[in-house]
Amino acid sequence: MGSEVTESAVAVAESGQGARVSIKAVPRHVAIIMDGNGRWAKRRFLPRIEGHRNGAKSVRMLVEECRRLGIRYLTLFAFSTENWRRPQDEVGGLMSLFVQHLESELELLLKNGIRLRAMGDTSRLPAAVREMLRRNEERTKDMTGMDLILAVSYGGRDELVQAARKMAVAAKAGQLDPASITEESFAQHLYLPDVPDPDLMIRTSDETRISNFLLWQLAYAEIVVSPVLWPDFSRDEFHRCLDVFAGRNRRFGLTQEQLQGA
Ligand code: FPP
Repeated sequence: MGSEVTESAVAVAESGQGARVSIKAVPRHVAIIMDGNGRWAKRRFLPRIEGHRNGAKSVRMLVEECRRLGIRYLTLFAFSTENWRRPQDEVGGLMSLFVQHLESELELLLKNGIRLRAMGDTSRLPAAVREMLRRNEERTKDMTGMDLILAVSYGGRDELVQAARKMAVAAKAGQLDPASITEESFAQHLYLPDVPDPDLMIRTSDETRISNFLLWQLAYAEIVVSPVLWPDFSRDEFHRCLDVFAGRNRRFGLTQEQLQGA
């Protein structure tokens, strides 16, 4: 169920590299809905794309911090299937931003041992974005320090539908017995079956919805809502979210007594 945490934050704290000592354990997989870029820009009378541009700075900080803390998987909701309906200039601006950052951050990924992976209906993306994603995925495929997963053109329902479609095709071809389908075999047809479920999902800007993000994978995730708009999301605020997570009592449907006896 993706419940494991690592003790590496403690190690970092003890080694005196500046991490706050209050973190007892860090989640293995953190997923983030980076929300509030538009409002950040609006408050400053700037075009929305400036919010996204400043949001990209928070992405860089977060990637470096997750790597430093030993968080093994980081999934970022960069662009949803619904976002295609935004004004054309905003969609175009975001696509250009993705190309720029995928181009400029490759060295950072390699230097830090980070593997980049994309999840979503990438066939809808402009060729330049697809090509950059493909290049970075290929160049970083042997990195084992951390997986940075970009959900782009991603929708949770879309992912479930395409999984169901793949299984229906196999069943129709006589390669799959519908009675044999289990939660585990179903999950094997999702975009990244080897990636464990997120332990922690953070959404910024005080919004409390899941918004079609990782509908299957978030079943047991702890959800932490941050009031901060994404471009202002700082290392301190991230640590506060991790502290909240560390204080939660995860029971996975069991009783407290069962967990204590385990
Ligand atoms: C949601 O804020 C944010 C997005 C739809 C885009 C997220 C993209 C980035 C942070 C840019 C850089 C990303 C990478 C991976 C380089 P919103 O626009 O919905 O904000 P609002 O709710 O205030 O309008």
